[in-house]
Amino acid sequence: MMKKQISVLFMAAAMAGLLTACGSSSGDAGKGATTAAAAVETTAGASSEKKEETQAPTTQDGAAGAPLIMVTNAEFPPYEYHDGGEIVGIDVEVSQAIAEKLGRTLEIEDIAFDSIIPELQSGKADFGAAGMTVDEDRLKNVDFSDTYTTASQVIIVKDDSDIAGPDDLKGKYIGVQLGTTGDIYASDYEEEGSTIERYNKGFEAVQAMMQGKIDAVVIDNEPAKVFVSQNQGIKILDEALTVEEYAIAVKKGNTELLEQINKALAELKESGELQAIIDKYISAE
Ligand code: ARG
Repeated sequence: MMKKQISVLFMAAAMAGLLTACGSSSGDAGKGATTAAAAVETTAGASSEKKEETQAPTTQDGAAGAPLIMVTNAEFPPYEYHDGGEIVGIDVEVSQAIAEKLGRTLEIEDIAFDSIIPELQSGKADFGAAGMTVDEDRLKNVDFSDTYTTASQVIIVKDDSDIAGPDDLKGKYIGVQLGTTGDIYASDYEEEGSTIERYNKGFEAVQAMMQGKIDAVVIDNEPAKVFVSQNQGIKILDEALTVEEYAIAVKKGNTELLEQINKALAELKESGELQAIIDKYISAE
């Protein structure tokens, strides 16, 4: 009983935190949010046709005024997620700020996470901003900007789970989002008799766990916090599994755009805008 009350209180506090974080979006940071949202709407309205139309003028041509096409997978709160009909989040606002500095309009394409790198390689999109971790294998196929934040992989389990840490994942059913660093990490446990279930969306893995189909979910820490705060009976284990850095990905060799992005990022760091965007979505513990 007591425990329940505490967890309910915790939930309330966590939700209040979320509300506060959202609430502040209508404050001083609201302008950026509106602009970003407007740009998203433009793309969302005609995404499939737009895709063909906008294929040619990528940054490779350096065409001034051509829209800057961002690819993401908006299943990853607080970095990118659907809110009503809009795609919002840290990566959206950071990308919007970068686009503004480059004098370009931003278009957002929401695609499967494991399609982001192919889409960049084919030149259909200019950059990927998707809470993407800089990873050696990925560096063979894309270039990464300077990093803009750090993260880690964590384990989510049911409150009553017998899994208390990474070692206990052996022999278990582990859910991940397909193609993520969580997938890469968990896949090592296949040798230990574990079964990896790969979902298109991180939250699908969490749902499968709540339904008892799998035992644990390995996912990035901030989305994990959001999923746990929005659902009862699940928790994040204390021990983080990795230390990772998020960066923006561009087509390999597109140094022109990479340098522009790095310059914009440096300015956003320097001015405190980057931190303000992060603080808007992630409340300090
Ligand atoms: N950081 C992890 C990775 O790079 C997960 C990113 C998932 N992002 C998303 N938008 N679904 O693999």
